[in-house]
Amino acid sequence: MKITKCLFPAAGYGTRFLPATKAMPKEMLPILTKPLIQYGVEEAVEAGMDTMAIITGRGKRAIEDHFDISYELESQIKGTSKEPLLNEIRALINKCTFTYTRQREMKGLGDAILKGQALIGKEPFGVVLADDLCINHNGDGVLSQMIKLNDKYKCSIVAIMEVPKEETYKYGVIAGKEIEDGVYMVSDMVEKPEPSEAPSNLAIIGRYILTPDIFDAIKTTKPGKNGEIQITDALLALAKKGMVLAYKFKGERFDCGSVDGYVQATNHLYNLQNKKEKGKK
Ligand code: G1P
Repeated sequence: MKITKCLFPAAGYGTRFLPATKAMPKEMLPILTKPLIQYGVEEAVEAGMDTMAIITGRGKRAIEDHFDISYELESQIKGTSKEPLLNEIRALINKCTFTYTRQREMKGLGDAILKGQALIGKEPFGVVLADDLCINHNGDGVLSQMIKLNDKYKCSIVAIMEVPKEETYKYGVIAGKEIEDGVYMVSDMVEKPEPSEAPSNLAIIGRYILTPDIFDAIKTTKPGKNGEIQITDALLALAKKGMVLAYKFKGERFDCGSVDGYVQATNHLYNLQNKKEKGKK
């Protein structure tokens, strides 16, 4: 079954970016001239998906406006040198359908994903946490890579990367057996463990392919770390019953939910853009 839907949990407050995120969704913070969530949607489209299911919350309307036509602005700049600046987003929104629902209370990532059940239905789907910006310059995006793996194994998959052991407390961390190069069959998963309790240094990053049985698993998942319903715990339940894979993706990931990662991503893409410009001359 072709995976066409991608879920974007985007209800969080973005407190690490206050005051910038007081009245603006953190997903709309720009890296160069594009908001974070647009990079995520582009990655999903590149992976062949065309339906974006966005879990929003109060104060997030700018996301809906971004993925819509802005008649006034567009008629103002029509025929001027500025018009091409909107070409990319125009082309992107023409390729997709956007659906939205709100997470009314912040009860964790698992709960946010469950809120998307009505938008997703009974099919496998992708999940993008937009503040993890993933870039793979010379090859497939991370979601594309994961879809290929799902074609082969037909199960839920989490993207992982190695992190320094002292940083495991920031991530979901997996343990598992490597069944092919960079692909692990998950046997354990812990949300944000202290380094001494972490089962490995393989950390989950914000890309998932989930099978629809995840929704029932979330419904029976009790609040975990920080009293929240954790997707990590629900996935462990699936791993115990069947198979969940962890995939060491190819490319780079920037934690744009932190100021450091955000600045690194900005510098990285700025340097790349400059290199491309120079290459053209
Ligand atoms: C979420 C997940 C965590 C994962 C992380 C990746 O945590 O709960 O398992 O490692 O995303 O960015 P958050 O960063 O939203 O606290």
